Amino acid sequence: MKVAVLGAAGGIGQPLSMILKNSLPAGSELSLYDVAPFTPGVAKDLSHIPTDVAVEGFTGAPDDDSVVQTAVKDADVVVIPAGVARKPGMTRQDLFNINAGIVANLVKNIAIAAPKACICIISNPVNSTVPIAAEVLKAKGVYDKHRLFGVSVLDVIRSETFLGEELGLSKASVQVPVIGGHSGNTILPLLSQVIGHEQIPQNRIEEITKRIQNAGTEVVEAKAGAGSATLSMATAGARFALKVVAGLCGAEGVNEYAYVDGGDKNAPFFAQRVRFGKEGWDKAYDYGTLNAYEQGILDSMKEELNGNIKAGVEFAEGWIKDKI
Ligand code: LMR
Repeated sequence: MKVAVLGAAGGIGQPLSMILKNSLPAGSELSLYDVAPFTPGVAKDLSHIPTDVAVEGFTGAPDDDSVVQTAVKDADVVVIPAGVARKPGMTRQDLFNINAGIVANLVKNIAIAAPKACICIISNPVNSTVPIAAEVLKAKGVYDKHRLFGVSVLDVIRSETFLGEELGLSKASVQVPVIGGHSGNTILPLLSQVIGHEQIPQNRIEEITKRIQNAGTEVVEAKAGAGSATLSMATAGARFALKVVAGLCGAEGVNEYAYVDGGDKNAPFFAQRVRFGKEGWDKAYDYGTLNAYEQGILDSMKEELNGNIKAGVEFAEGWIKDKI
């Protein structure tokens, strides 16, 4: 497997790359790209870790497409945490103006140099950057919905943590479906489907749901201007990328929640459980029965989520006219 990380020298990219260096199957290649000039140094640092994963680092000016193409050449999986992070008072959508163009350009280069890659997008606002990536891939004639993912699994790991604490269980034993999108009210944890949920009164269910929806903001505020979640995001991103890799390698029964073009009736892109196979995700699961509280959140999120998607598609249309 060749896995590329774009934005590899940043707060998410470095720990993500470290986890991948320690966890990818022996014989894999890890290719790191970032505009930060010390990216080859990050690769050198990781290369001293004694695992059988080769690491290379690349850097170049943001408009130097050839460096990105060299970094991703024939990659099986590309993970993108590149871009800017929120500061207190900002929503993820406020990052749109900067991150939309960054993601579009990286994806254009992936389309050229690694058209079969599974692309895992972390850069916010994920609700919009994933549709942007889809439009760019379509314009380049290489879109395959089974190979494009928004990484929403941070919402899942937070839910596992908060529910584990609430139920007094090992966090590793808790499973929480989280559907919708990856921002505020579009994040919908289905706590009614968690084993043991009947022990939790409805007012606590609602408090925990809101905490999950605002957990990114909880970190942004705690970091007080120094950015957003990096270490938990890297953990989530690595868990996700390693599952994509496992599927590509032929492992069976590997599932995770992801924001995909999975045919859900609520929106063209929707976080749902998918199964990973040798060609990307090969099955998207229905989310089952919602209770009235969850259905109310789903009904109320649709306009925002579809608006975020539309904003991405409209941006991409203009960007493609200009740059492709
Ligand atoms: C998160 O959920 O922590 C990330 O999407 C970063 C952010 O801005 O909240």
